[in-house]
Amino acid sequence: AEVQYHDFIVQERPVKRLCKTHNIITVNGQFPGPTLEVRNGDTLVINVVNRAQYNVTLHWHGIRQLRTAWADGPSYITQCPIRPGGRYTYRFTIEDQEGTLWWHAHSSWLRATVYGALIIHPKLNTPYPFPKHNHEVPIILGEWWNSNPIDVINRALITGAAPKISNAYTINSQPGDLYKCSSSETVIIPVDSGETYLLRIINAAMNQELFFSIAGHKMTVVSADAVYTKPFTTSVLLITPGQTTDVLLTANRPPGRYYMAARAYANAQGVAFDNTTTTAILQYKSASRSKSKPLLPRLPGFNDTRLATAFTNQFKSPSKVPVPAHVDVNLLFTIGLGLFNCPRGRRCRGPNGGRLTASMNNVSLVFPSKASVLEAYYKGIPGIYTTDFPPIPPLQFDYTAANISRSLWQPARGTKVFKVKYGSTVQIVFQDTNIVAAENHPMHLHGYHFYVLANGFGNFNPQTDTAKFNLVDPPQRNTIGVPINGWSAIRFVADNPGAWLMHCHLDVHLTWGLSMILLVENGVGKLQSLEPPPADLPKC
Ligand code: C2O
Repeated sequence: AEVQYHDFIVQERPVKRLCKTHNIITVNGQFPGPTLEVRNGDTLVINVVNRAQYNVTLHWHGIRQLRTAWADGPSYITQCPIRPGGRYTYRFTIEDQEGTLWWHAHSSWLRATVYGALIIHPKLNTPYPFPKHNHEVPIILGEWWNSNPIDVINRALITGAAPKISNAYTINSQPGDLYKCSSSETVIIPVDSGETYLLRIINAAMNQELFFSIAGHKMTVVSADAVYTKPFTTSVLLITPGQTTDVLLTANRPPGRYYMAARAYANAQGVAFDNTTTTAILQYKSASRSKSKPLLPRLPGFNDTRLATAFTNQFKSPSKVPVPAHVDVNLLFTIGLGLFNCPRGRRCRGPNGGRLTASMNNVSLVFPSKASVLEAYYKGIPGIYTTDFPPIPPLQFDYTAANISRSLWQPARGTKVFKVKYGSTVQIVFQDTNIVAAENHPMHLHGYHFYVLANGFGNFNPQTDTAKFNLVDPPQRNTIGVPINGWSAIRFVADNPGAWLMHCHLDVHLTWGLSMILLVENGVGKLQSLEPPPADLPKC
């Protein structure tokens, strides 16, 4: 195994998209940011220097960070942010993970432009457990605003309104030629007839689940969230923010030009979203002089929940997996949006005095500011968090019916953690609530990947739905799209000590508080305990 060193300079750079130029925050001036490419077992040492005018942290999305939660990155959860002019070195080892992950900023809305691929190859001389491929191509889906995304979210927080939706979706940071002023920069992927390509697809969009398809071609899914899956073939993918999907694509069509395209999946009432399409071009090299217009793939309608569900349910582990049969900690977490009912023109009780809020189990997370939760736990600093995150939903009612409970409109706010003993088996059922608007929520857990046992629509019923759990070959993920007006059940062994953020990966919901902290306590001895904090850990 190797140790790789990188310098990541966080800095502003003017970038032109959709006919307009403005300054964005980048790493090393690159957009998307640099691709990290390592092997399973390698150690990454990334020296981050902050030359921007914002506080920043970086998160290595999906990396387990076994005993190194100090390198996980969410601001005020595992570290204080790196101040302008400051620096911090993230150091972590890849332990038994292979596939595609990614990294992104984890403070305010910086991740809109601060992101890149993190590719983990198998150990030297170890083959992939799927058919051979000739080339690999990272495909990062994103969103672009015609203004500074930090201003977009800050303005929204001040006015208490929903933030402006983005102006375009992007593939490898380019909107593609269906948008104005974008055709000369459209991403072109040259392919040789007969060759097979591993596309490493990442959804880095801020607030949008996306359908993805390639005209004329089928894709074989082989891995997701850096865990191998039982291969299956599809012409359309659904991918939520935070998720990654690796697919094999063989250039077996008549030589020509074919669009790959992504567009919104948004089955939610009263929620604004962008219904435009981003494209890149798959171009057969033998047809390189062809000027013909590429074919567009057929993408599902924005509200095609039937297709979204059918796609998601195809994921399985390649073989039997050891799902722990006994559950020690059995939880149901409601996830949902809320709206404070407050007098016109007066400060409201939502984040920053706004009307909109979101919560889990009726608690809207408030990030601390004087120390990170992890530091407070490790050093025993009082007053940073409380341990009274309610383990059971406060009310039993029909979660999917609108306007049922006033109390869920006005959740409690606080830094409440849920403590879990090292080594316990945890089961969580996420239950979507429909108080203001029902929506899909891509739930992400830091520090783990978990078995996805089942999902369904309506209210989770412990009697009948438990029987549907797949305890034989469920897939393992770090991010799961909980269906609209529905539920998802996950299970994992809490074998990684630390303060782990669990949140909706739609950043607008995270901003409103759809987030909680799972505090996995140290076990016995060195192998079950957090390493000491690095000497250069930023101070609050
Ligand atoms: Cu992709 Cu909390 O992160």
